[in-house]
Amino acid sequence: MRITGTGHASMRIDTAAGSILCDPWVNPAYFASWFPFPDNSQLDWETLGDVDYLYVSHLHRDHFDAEHLKRFISKKATVLLPEYPTSQLEDELRELGFTSFLRTRSDEVHELDGGLKVMIQALISPTDGPIGDSSLWVEYDGVRVLNQNDARPTDLQRFNELGHVHAHMLQFSGAIWYPMVYELPENAKTAFGKQKRERQFDRTWRYIDDLKADFVFPIAGPPCFLDDTLWQFNDIHGDEGNIFPDQSVFLSEYAKVGGTNAVVQLPGSVTVLSEGGTKQTTEHPMPVDEFFANKAAHLEEMRERKAPVIAAEKASWRHPEIDVLGALKKQIEPLLEESIYMAKGVGGPVRFDLTDSFGPDGEIVESIVVDFPGKQVRPYADEKVRYRFKTGRALIEHLIFIGEGDWVNSLFLSCRFSAARIGQYNEFVYAFFKCLSEERLQYAEGWYDEHEKAVDAEDIQFDDWTVQRRCPHLKADLSRFGIVEGNQLTCQLHGWKFDLPSGRCLTSVGHKIRASKTES
Ligand code: FES
Repeated sequence: MRITGTGHASMRIDTAAGSILCDPWVNPAYFASWFPFPDNSQLDWETLGDVDYLYVSHLHRDHFDAEHLKRFISKKATVLLPEYPTSQLEDELRELGFTSFLRTRSDEVHELDGGLKVMIQALISPTDGPIGDSSLWVEYDGVRVLNQNDARPTDLQRFNELGHVHAHMLQFSGAIWYPMVYELPENAKTAFGKQKRERQFDRTWRYIDDLKADFVFPIAGPPCFLDDTLWQFNDIHGDEGNIFPDQSVFLSEYAKVGGTNAVVQLPGSVTVLSEGGTKQTTEHPMPVDEFFANKAAHLEEMRERKAPVIAAEKASWRHPEIDVLGALKKQIEPLLEESIYMAKGVGGPVRFDLTDSFGPDGEIVESIVVDFPGKQVRPYADEKVRYRFKTGRALIEHLIFIGEGDWVNSLFLSCRFSAARIGQYNEFVYAFFKCLSEERLQYAEGWYDEHEKAVDAEDIQFDDWTVQRRCPHLKADLSRFGIVEGNQLTCQLHGWKFDLPSGRCLTSVGHKIRASKTES
């Protein structure tokens, strides 16, 4: 089996029974904020795109690059489709010209021609990616590979059941806007960022330990930010609160916990797994250490080269003729009317301050409130709000212009905004703004409804505490992911904390945990 690194979370897997290209991403994503790093635009995509199978793990734009798929990927390729609740991924791929689809069933092995076996595990909660994230397991001739991608299953048991995995590809770096966009004192931001960075690594170690593969490939690594207003998010400034550590940092952190089996691929690196998957040899286009030692220079060079791309994108965002308030009323009010769980979960007004720039800086020209209790979109009325976002009016104009139904997969991941909130993190705010279409809203509401009603009666024991087995967030098994220190439980899957005496979730609104002091 041969694995070619094609940048970020992308790879091409070649076997004698066929080739699979995963998540090819080259063009900038999220309002031209994210670029793949190291740069992969110079690869021979005509050849790489001539494949038997295409796997797009999910619809996030750093995995689903419509322009690139359209131009370079063979339309003869059969798409290995995760089992998602909505048909959006298939619909979008059909629109790009793909016609052959294998609709997999989650957690079921599918045998393809020539003895190639695949299994896709689909995660489908409203907080998994853009309502859906997935991992791909591949077996050929006794060699097994898991491309876990940036999916966060509660555990890797299903893959372990299928036999020892030889190569494990997984995310290790940040892919979110927290805490950078929050309006916080710098020292608090650094402290939160540091915690987040540590948590990301802890989660990665846990997954690695769960699977115990022969080789670990750190992928879905940090993007790079080439626009001047976002340049500070690149991890080159010695900021210990930066949530985007790169593969070279992964190597040193992994070594600290005793990890010796990492394989870092640059775009164009080729790894051959041999001897039943227990041996690997990798050839790189240039020495990996040397590449990362010159990271700042590579970024500067990319910044200059890609500046016209960013300028061209920016030129397409403004649509001043759009009545933003009117358009948002039309799009969002019917959804507010139908939303029970998410509207209740948000529980207050959310304010958008719109500026005359392409981000949070500049003059505020309009302030709009999405009033969840009042089920209304209206002008801001000098009131207390639950969350406040500040971003460029042009970005909202563009979202309306393209009919965007998922603001997480466009505005929020762009990091071209600032945020302030009263109280804790509220997952429902972001869940709602990724459901700005009837289909998505109905699905998410149904999901919350089922989970609200689900009775999770099983308890487990920690030293002094009896606690419900499943995490109130996304059902992680707390006998594996839970750590109790004093009166506080941390679920290591996403780092949520709970105060055991009161059961209160310290990380997000709602999500109470059942816990009682064990009698001794
Ligand atoms: S499942 Fe997310 S913190 Fe527990």
